[in-house]
Amino acid sequence: MKKLLALSLTIVMMTMLCACGAKETAGDVTETGASAALADGVLTVGTNAEFPPFEYVGDDGQPDGFDMALVKAIGEKLGVEVKIENMEFASLVTSIGSKIDIAAAGMTVTEERKQTVDFSNSYYEAVQYVILPADSAIATAADLEGKTIGVQLGTTGDFIATDIAGTTVAPYNKAVDAVNDLINGKVDCVIIDKNPALVFESKFEGQVVAIDGVQFDFEIENYAIALPKGDAELATKINEAIDAIKADGTFDELVKTYIEAE
Ligand code: ARG
Repeated sequence: MKKLLALSLTIVMMTMLCACGAKETAGDVTETGASAALADGVLTVGTNAEFPPFEYVGDDGQPDGFDMALVKAIGEKLGVEVKIENMEFASLVTSIGSKIDIAAAGMTVTEERKQTVDFSNSYYEAVQYVILPADSAIATAADLEGKTIGVQLGTTGDFIATDIAGTTVAPYNKAVDAVNDLINGKVDCVIIDKNPALVFESKFEGQVVAIDGVQFDFEIENYAIALPKGDAELATKINEAIDAIKADGTFDELVKTYIEAE
């Protein structure tokens, strides 16, 4: 019996050794240039498809939008398949390296996020906008004090609203729900990025207006793809792919199709 046990243990150990060997072989791919995130030929991209025109659920039920088209173009340049994982915005940063390889979600580069993730070169400039009921008297930064402000949970709009004196911040997972509550009178305004604000303004035409946050002293923000911390090789590849997409005109095409068409 003991012998049998010893034998099966040996077999188990040998199998494990073989498995390690196989892994090492797969690891060799890394030496030829692929980062861990690219080694299996699938780049899993996290997003939150509640942020038109950058990401939204299309008529076919799949995430679509500028960022989705951008990461698919990046995947083509890198020769990998792109798989999209739609999740809550607030979960994206912490899911990088486990559930997802990278995140493309109109994500603003912030010092705080940089503690956890790296960012690609920035690909789009934005600013927060204030969405108001058509008849609202809110017009300046001071007018926002003490107000109830709808935001998307975990976004820069959320952080800005929280920093304004005396506000009650109402966080939503879906931006459109915040806008619906604005129309229902449950919140006084919604703070959200420029392009989604403009999409909602035209979607709810006559009911809401979108005001440029510069009027409220909000700062310019830059969108980038969030990457696993310390994977310099992946960062270089993604940045090279973005550069190539810009150089060959694809980027401008996507801006025209997804952003300027709105
Ligand atoms: N730019 C803002 C931020 O980084 C909002 C992004 C929201 N994106 C989304 N896909 N829901 O916090």
